[in-house]
Parts: sequence; C-alpha cells; structure tokens
Amino acid sequence: MDRWQTIIEPFRIHSVEPIRMTTVAERTAALEAAGYNLFNLHADDVLIDLLTDSGTGAMSRDQWAGIQHGDESYAGSPSWYRFLAAVQSLFPFPHVIPTHQGRAAEKILFSVIGGPGKVIPNNTHFDTTRANVEFTGAEAIDLGIAEGRVPSTVHPFKGNMDLEALEALIDERGAASVPVVFVTITNNSGGGQPVSLENLRGVRAICDRHGIPLFLDACRFAENAWFIHEREPGYAGRPVVQIVREMAALADGMTMSAKKDGLANIGGWLALRDDGWAEQCRNLLILTEGFPTYGGLAGRDLEAIAQGLQEVVDEDYLRYRIRSTAYLGERLDAAGVPVVLPIGGHAVYLDARALLPHVPPLEYPGQSLAAALYREGGIRGCEIGTVMFGRHPDGSESPAAMDLVRLAIPRRTYTQSHIDYVIEVVRWVAQRAGELRGMRIVEEPPQLRHFTARFEPA
Ligand SMILES: Cc1ncc(COP(=O)(O)O)c(C=O)c1O
Repeated sequence: MDRWQTIIEPFRIHSVEPIRMTTVAERTAALEAAGYNLFNLHADDVLIDLLTDSGTGAMSRDQWAGIQHGDESYAGSPSWYRFLAAVQSLFPFPHVIPTHQGRAAEKILFSVIGGPGKVIPNNTHFDTTRANVEFTGAEAIDLGIAEGRVPSTVHPFKGNMDLEALEALIDERGAASVPVVFVTITNNSGGGQPVSLENLRGVRAICDRHGIPLFLDACRFAENAWFIHEREPGYAGRPVVQIVREMAALADGMTMSAKKDGLANIGGWLALRDDGWAEQCRNLLILTEGFPTYGGLAGRDLEAIAQGLQEVVDEDYLRYRIRSTAYLGERLDAAGVPVVLPIGGHAVYLDARALLPHVPPLEYPGQSLAAALYREGGIRGCEIGTVMFGRHPDGSESPAAMDLVRLAIPRRTYTQSHIDYVIEVVRWVAQRAGELRGMRIVEEPPQLRHFTARFEPA
C-alpha cells in the first residue's frame, strides 16, 4: 500500500443515517431556544455533529453481530467472560469492574480513595474526572508540561506530565496525601495530545520512590499507542498491541470509557491490581451499578466492547483515524485558523482566544465561536475553556488556561466530503471572527456547568 499517498477509510458503508438539512434562520431560532448552549440542541437540528467522539462512532458489522450474541444472564454471562478476556488481553489487571461509562468508574474509585485532605495529580483531569475528585472533597491538580499549555507550540508528546512538578507536589503535600497519580492518555482537555512511554516510565519511577500507585485514564489508549508508534524513537517497528501492553505494564490500574477506544456506544470499566481497593470498589459497584459480572451494562454491550477492543488496535484503522483528524487540522492551519498544534488524535481544537482577541476570557470566546459555527454551518463543536473549567469549588471564577473549541471526530462516521464542508464553514466563520460578540451566563448549575448553563450575547 506504500505506493499510494491517499489513506482511504479501511471500511465500506453498510447502513446509512440521514442528515436533516436546515437553514441559517432555523438554526438561529434553535440556538436561541437552546440558551446558546449546544448541549441543549435537538440533535436532528445538527448537520455535522462534532460535539464529542464519545459513544458517537459507527459500530462494525461484527460488533452488531456480537450484540445478537449478547447473553443477558444476571451472573456469569458468557458475554462477561468475552469482555473480561478482551480487556485483560490488552490490560492484564487482575480486577476488572465493568461500569456503564467512564465517569462511573471514576465515581467508584474516588469514593474509595479520595476525600478531604487528599490530592490527585493528573497531566490534565478531564471534566468528569475533576468533578468526581472534587465531589469527595479531594483536590484535583493538573501537572501537564508547559508546552502543553501553549496552543501553537509543537511538541511530539504535548500530553506529557511535568515530572519535576509532580515530584515537587508530592514533596510539598507528602506521599500519604496522594493516594494515586493519574495520567490521561491521550490528554483530552489538553488538546488530544499523546503521552510518551518515556514520560510514563518517568512518572512510574516517581510513584515507585514514594510508594504511590499509578493509574491511567485510558479512554484513548489505542490512539496514544499509535502516536508512540509514529513518534517515539524505537517504536516504529513495534506492533500497537505490544505498545498498549507496555503502557498497561507501567500502571497499577485504569479507568476507561469504552465510548472512545472501546468503539462502543456505551460502557466503561475500572481495572486494578490492589485486592483491597478492588473489594471496596466492587461493593460500591453493586450499590450503584450492578452485579460484578455486568456492572452497568447489558450482555450485548459487553459483546460490542469485546469486539471493539480487537478492532481498535488494528493498525490500518489507527493510521486512517489519526490521518483523517490531521487532514481537518492541517487544512485549517494552512488557512490561517489558529489550532492547537500538532493535531491531536480524536479532535481538532480551535484556539478561540487567539481568533477572538477582542472577547475577554470571562465573556467566553469559545462559547461564542462554537455558537457561530452552529448558526452558520450547522456544525456542533464543544467549548473547552473558561465555561468548562472557569468556575471553582469556592464559587470564584477565573479564565481557564486556554479557550478552545473542540471539533471531535466520531469514529468511522463522517466521510471526507463532510470534513471538507467543515473546513469551508470554519474558514468562513474565522474570516468574520471580528464580528462575533462575547457571551454572558444567565443560569448555571453548581457543577459541570457547561452541560446545562444558559447564555445570552454580552
Ligand atoms: C479523558 C476522559 N476521561 C473520562 C471521560 C469520561 O467518560 P464517560 O463520558 O464515558 O463518562 C472522558 C469522556 O469524554 C474523557 O475524555
């Protein structure tokens, strides 16, 4: 295949879903009714839905076939054993605890190990991870490398943890108050940027010195492994499956949302080595999710994930996946639209703060840009900035490190012409960015406000 430059989708379309066409006038009305919060839209008012890559991908023929094989026995279903084998073939942790999605795994784990006085370092906490840590009274601290906070800086592993800052934090707070160190692969909130194996080894060494377990937030483990394969010296010839196992071998546990690199529409798990923690987590699982051999899932979901885990480490799939995301980002970059560089794995992040310098961060440039992309072209992205991260547990508000709009690419769902349309719309809006106004929040909940807050133009 090396003879040809074009990287094609390594699949054919088997079943199609219609997209409902809408006008600017219809979308303007929908936007007002939604309080300018794109989470409040009816999805059939969206043309190209890049809100998230979570649970929005297309499942394969073999996953749908797996769903037919789903065994719904309450305890000990064969589907559970297939799921368990698929998870452990990549992540050989002795305890695997299935949950209905990633945040349920986080909720259970942090309920057991969090609490007031505890501090959880992470390269960058995802919003639900941070919220679940803080809900227990613990503190969530982001320790990504400095390069990761500058959208235009190019670094092959911009998701890396700042090792000196980690060491300093542990020295300052004491190892006893750090129950776990988390590394998010890839770093979603920091731009979908990967973490190198060298960095993971460095984190592991610090954890070992202080006797602290290392956990992965492994939602996009396969994409991270592909970046290691492509960028880390010595790994070009290493099969992706081996790279995944090498990442897993450095960790003591993981939380996972199967809605990403499980290639499924729902699901997740918590996996770990420690017997004592596992027992406490399983007790909570039974209270909140379900029996330990199905957790929060139906047998058919377990089958879809088991099959998805085999497909996601296919190198033709990963080459197409990462290349097609880069295609969108590189064309926007070439057109002068500020984007986080290098292009991440699952999404392209527009730098709204750079594109709308006339809108101060506390007037939410990301929200304003996301609303404009929807109004003009029916494209739904997601603000990742001051709306998502600006409100603190003490009620104060400050600008987030960056104001981004994430265009997340659902897996195996949109074709190149959909993406060409997105490029056209983003360029058009970017050329008129000077006309966009900031936003004001008129209603917000105490936590995770970006999901339900309502806005009006400032
Ligand atoms: C890095 C990361 N961690 C955790 C989660 C939470 O997973 P879920 O949405 O399945 O609860 C997400 C979801 O987007 C994520 O991107």
